[in-house]
Amino acid sequence: MPETPADNPSTPIKSNPGWKSQYILLSLPLKDRLTGPEQALIASIERKPKKSGFIFEIDDNYLHFYLKSLDLEAFRKSVFSSIERERGQPERYTRVNQLLTDLLGRIESIRSYGIKGKKRIYVDYNKERKVENRQNKVKNRGSHYYAEGNVFDRTSNELPEEFRNRIIAGDSEAELKKLPSNCIDLVVTSPPYNFGLGYDTSQDGINWEEYFAKLFRIFDECTRVLKYGGRIVINIQPLFSDYIPSHHIISSHLMDKKLIWKGEILWEKNNYNCKYTAWGSWKSPSSPYLKYTWEFLEIFAKGDLKKEGKPENIDINGEEFKKWVVAKWSISPERRMDAYDHPAMFPQELVERVLKLFSYEGDIILDPFNGVGTTSVVAKRLHRDYIGIDVSGKYCKVAERRIKELLP
Ligand SMILES: C[S@@+](CC[C@H](N)C(=O)[O-])C[C@H]1O[C@@H](n2cnc3c(N)ncnc32)[C@H](O)[C@@H]1O
Repeated sequence: MPETPADNPSTPIKSNPGWKSQYILLSLPLKDRLTGPEQALIASIERKPKKSGFIFEIDDNYLHFYLKSLDLEAFRKSVFSSIERERGQPERYTRVNQLLTDLLGRIESIRSYGIKGKKRIYVDYNKERKVENRQNKVKNRGSHYYAEGNVFDRTSNELPEEFRNRIIAGDSEAELKKLPSNCIDLVVTSPPYNFGLGYDTSQDGINWEEYFAKLFRIFDECTRVLKYGGRIVINIQPLFSDYIPSHHIISSHLMDKKLIWKGEILWEKNNYNCKYTAWGSWKSPSSPYLKYTWEFLEIFAKGDLKKEGKPENIDINGEEFKKWVVAKWSISPERRMDAYDHPAMFPQELVERVLKLFSYEGDIILDPFNGVGTTSVVAKRLHRDYIGIDVSGKYCKVAERRIKELLP
């Protein structure tokens, strides 16, 4: 076997018997044996074997790459600068260039455990962080302990046909009382934030206690009508200037009502137009005011974190799933609010992600603060059934028009 820098007996890693078990092995097949200059080029990438978390090994048939940890960016630079250095004789190195490019692709496709310093860790990381006796500890701690002892009924009920795919003009607290319990799969909504926005009919900007008491009565109804295993997703923005953490206050109420907190999504709106001196102190620790360019989506489950559904009714693909389970979503706010004459609409993409991630095709989606019907429109487009309630008849008419405009 030809010698590589990693074969140097002074290399501490390789003097340790059994060293290979600490590495992931990537082997790239060779049609012909690598020439001396080709091997030297590869060797130049691995200059500091002592510090490297990787080792090359070459035999007649393979280029072996043993990988433990890697600063991927530095590695990429090192690969490209070696290739660059040999540019005078490109034909001599075409094969190595191709091999190294393939190797980079292979490395990028492996799942790493995390980052330590600048390096990605590919092995051992789990061992270091492993919690001994994990299951027992979870049992002792009691996961979602606050939701224990709930008395939610597991039986689902049919949503009466008169409510299926309907936009209802009315107060949600009263309208929801007309629905049977356990008939809705997913609630997706954004209540008024009480900032004082000019909605058509509802009061927005009332006393906070009154505001939360009304919301809680509506969310209690939502909880009642949710099926066992159903989810409720609430988009809410705290009023930072009044130091009212609405997302915590609402979440805390839902936990008191024994719903399980499933998670929180940061909806990054990239809204940088907030003024720096409007509140708080300027260039002084006396009272700095924190700025937020995002809103929150609080997600809760009734009774069970798992929601059953038929595999053929899943419409999220692998790419979407991988991207959307990272709980920070960068989505621009809706730009056509003027056209619909509503001051606080959802962008359709936000609803689309929520529906595909948390519900199945054919599910029933409720929005008790339906506005001009974005939730209902997206639900219909994604082959779900909907029920949308808004206190404003004017908004409901717009919602109906938008739904009709969808192609059948
Ligand atoms: C933030 S907006 C929702 C906008 C909606 N997501 C959309 O994309 O059009 C809140 C809505 O709640 C409605 N609303 C306020 N109080 C209500 C109540 N008690 N019952 C039903 N709707 C109510 C308002 O009319 C307003 O349209």
